[in-house]
Amino acid sequence: MNCVEAKLELQQLLNKVSPSEVRKLLDWIKNSDELDHLLLDNNKVILQNIADDLRARLPPDAMLPSETAAHHKMQQRARPTVHVDSFLYSDEQMDTLCEEGAMSRNYCLSCGSFRTAPLEFISHSFSATELQFLFQNLLPDLSGRTLVDVGSRLGAVLYGGYVYSSASRLLGLELNEDFVRLQNDIVHKYKFSDRVQVLHADVCTQEVLLNSTDVLIMNNVFEYFMESSEQVRAWMFIMKSFRKRGSLLVTVPSLHESLNALQVVLQPGWVEELPVDYDVYLGKDTDPEALRQIHLYRIL
Ligand SMILES: C[S@@+](CC[C@H](N)C(=O)[O-])C[C@H]1O[C@@H](n2cnc3c(N)ncnc32)[C@H](O)[C@@H]1O
Repeated sequence: MNCVEAKLELQQLLNKVSPSEVRKLLDWIKNSDELDHLLLDNNKVILQNIADDLRARLPPDAMLPSETAAHHKMQQRARPTVHVDSFLYSDEQMDTLCEEGAMSRNYCLSCGSFRTAPLEFISHSFSATELQFLFQNLLPDLSGRTLVDVGSRLGAVLYGGYVYSSASRLLGLELNEDFVRLQNDIVHKYKFSDRVQVLHADVCTQEVLLNSTDVLIMNNVFEYFMESSEQVRAWMFIMKSFRKRGSLLVTVPSLHESLNALQVVLQPGWVEELPVDYDVYLGKDTDPEALRQIHLYRIL
């Protein structure tokens, strides 16, 4: 049922309510929080619909032929690794695909034998549950704030920010032009363009934007997409340019882990890490280990 049809039904229902009770009912609809769960479910449904649309336009591993560096990096991993995008596939959907034989959790150690070992899975997107945690538990009220997602890929953070937050501007920066096109199609279809914008750009060219950013999201942006020397250059740029005092930085994994791997020193006095309460249950898809990878910092 669309909004116009629902309004008609509601009017018909209100006509049946005794006149002395109508005011009470309208007040309840407007002010009670007993209907909030409907909104929440609706947000999840919107994100699921977007995921359905994206799955229809992408191969099962949700990686594009144009991502040559990323394909190469995956092949270089010590253990066979496959990409399963958590925004597109829930654990339940993943189980179904395994049962159908379309996906496997194991690989064969010597062909034809029963000696198998678990594959390593990575996701290049936040899951819907992680997005809910990000916007409803981790970040403060974002009214009037600008949020930038570095490497917005499928746009999961932008859509999550649209349905779960009041941020006035949600901006995605993405190097891969095919993903920019895909995100713009979704933004257009779901009419998110009043608050969402996607730029085809390398973050390292966005000094002016970073200067005015209130929240910067960096979900494992560089590791799988750039050579080490380029990653070092990009982190140095972020530490130099993202300087607005009080702004928030969200990273996966921790800054410590990303920078140590590259032997880059965290600039003293740049950020402080803020405590996060990870002890939340957001439904059966909650993965406490994945939530613990999400870190929050404030610019000093
Ligand atoms: C792990 S994905 C992040 C997905 C998304 N932010 C999320 O959390 O769902 C990283 C993305 O960053 C993009 N990327 C890598 N380096 C970048 C750069 N220097 N500037 C802009 N985008 C970049 C990659 O093309 C890739 O799509």
